Amino acid sequence: MSVHSLQMAGRAPSDVREAGKPLLEVSGLTLEYRTDDRVVRATHRVSFDVHRGDRYVLLGPSGCGKSSLLKSVAGFIPPREGSILLDGRPVTGPWPDRIVVFQEFDQLAPWKTVKENVMFSLTASKRATRKEAQAHALHWLNKVGLSGFEDAYPHTLSGGMKQRVAIARALAMQPDILLMDEPFAALDALTRRKMQEELQILWDEARFTMLFVTHSIEEALIIGNRVLLLSPHPGRVRAELNSHQFGLHSAGSEEFQAATRRVHHLLFEQAGEEHEVSQFPQVRPSALSQRRRQER
Ligand SMILES: Nc1ncnc2c1ncn2[C@@H]1O[C@H](COP(=O)(O)OP(=O)(O)O)[C@@H](O)[C@H]1O
Ligand SMILES: [Mg+2]
Repeated sequence: MSVHSLQMAGRAPSDVREAGKPLLEVSGLTLEYRTDDRVVRATHRVSFDVHRGDRYVLLGPSGCGKSSLLKSVAGFIPPREGSILLDGRPVTGPWPDRIVVFQEFDQLAPWKTVKENVMFSLTASKRATRKEAQAHALHWLNKVGLSGFEDAYPHTLSGGMKQRVAIARALAMQPDILLMDEPFAALDALTRRKMQEELQILWDEARFTMLFVTHSIEEALIIGNRVLLLSPHPGRVRAELNSHQFGLHSAGSEEFQAATRRVHHLLFEQAGEEHEVSQFPQVRPSALSQRRRQER
């Protein structure tokens, strides 16, 4: 595949709608933080759709509003402008249909064992009895390769293992969408690669819907089937591309490297230009939705 066959399209919210109703519809989302003396605009009119089974990646440099977007989808930050619909209903606050996995290793309760950490969300939300929660916890801990560590406490685990627990805990809740905010960014390179591989295997088995935030171009192409490129201050959409053709197997290939350079160029070297996205081949709506149907 040549890099030119990467499908890049300027944001056109109507492009993909006919491929079936999106699970998540983010439309014209402007997010702001108000401090005593000023207003910080984190994102400006960002729009994107996530379909069921998507591995949708938000990619952009630090400060472009990725975490803000994720927190807003999670229900923690209300839109200043625009809307967020999940399954057609407006998001008005946090709910267990959206679970977040964060970058930080301290997201587990340190006084609970690994198994209790996974069980807690299930029992606290009354999604399961204690007995059911235990079965679910053991199932998902096994899936993330933590059988044998059920009774360990978080402080005895490595960073990678803690992130596995957080992922098991999130998936055990069977959310409509799993929200991941740079979950592997604080890991060493080898562990990070391993976790990317494991996430891919988990997704192949369970086919959950994922909204994944990263500032790593490589990670975005490996993890995502679609990638939204954001420019900073405030975050705006620069392009959206299909990346389902890449996986861990392709990292290092000539095509992959070329795609990485292309994305880098889109993200950084055209900064400040007004109509940069239109320089790339626009994908006709029918072609894009056809492609998307093939992916699923
Ligand atoms: N709590 C906050 N108060 C004020 N400004 C914030 C707050 N959180 C984030 N910001 C600002 O919003 C912008 C986007 O931040 P963020 O969403 O964390 O970006 P990213 O995750 O892409 O690094 C940045 O300019 C950041 O400084
Ligand atoms: Mg962030």
